[in-house]
Amino acid sequence: MRIVIAKDYQALSKKAAHIIAGQLIMKPDSVLGLATGSTPLGTYQTLVTMVEDGLASFSQAQTFNLDEYYGLGPQDPQSYYYFMQQNLFSRVDMRSNCIHIPDGLAGDVQMECLRYEEQIRRHGGIDLQLLGIGRNGHIGFNEPDLKFEAITHLVALDQDTIEANARFFDEPSQVPRQAISMGIKTIMHARKILLLASGKEKASTVYQMVYGDIRPELPASVLQIHPDVTIIVDEAAAEGLAQMRGTDTSYIRIE
Ligand code: F6R
Repeated sequence: MRIVIAKDYQALSKKAAHIIAGQLIMKPDSVLGLATGSTPLGTYQTLVTMVEDGLASFSQAQTFNLDEYYGLGPQDPQSYYYFMQQNLFSRVDMRSNCIHIPDGLAGDVQMECLRYEEQIRRHGGIDLQLLGIGRNGHIGFNEPDLKFEAITHLVALDQDTIEANARFFDEPSQVPRQAISMGIKTIMHARKILLLASGKEKASTVYQMVYGDIRPELPASVLQIHPDVTIIVDEAAAEGLAQMRGTDTSYIRIE
């Protein structure tokens, strides 16, 4: 694992955007795995600016999002499809037929999960997967469990996730209780993984992800065995990591 400690959220976002833009320069037809939530917003904003300035292009890229709320369609302002359109896709040179997000309205969820896996496979697998991390250690919507769920599947969201995501809704009761999410194996098959964490409420989870046991009760801990993971944290989320420096992970500090 490479750990980059950024001075603040802005520096974190800039560094993450540069890594994604670099991926697109090295391989313009990259298959990108993307995340929603608050954490990548600054990264997406920086990428939008880079595209406007001619420094990056999504024109040949394919994207696969990690997850979608079950029961919400693409026109629903709370859907992750809508989120991605608002914050990235409609603002960069992305081709609409190259955007892939699980269908939250799928009648046959089982089939939809298999279809999604097949689409990723047909496009050659994910080159770079962007992740956030839940306070409970989830990646995608792979919630703490007794086993790692392998492929794309229907998830019952944890109470902690429902509470954390209630901030995006008028009422906590409006937060969908289920989602379709890539599985742990889907994520682990990505050639490179870039995980972002910001704020002190993520600090203890980040510490456990990096130095704790690998266990499905903290799904992100599985990333310890992925061969190419970069974690970018701001100083608040890096609290607790500092004393461990010099062990098996490499640290880089950026301003
Ligand atoms: C989003 C996703 C989630 C979030 C995580 C952190 O597509 O899959 O795992 O990355 O819940 O969310 P924020 O960034 O809002 O703290």
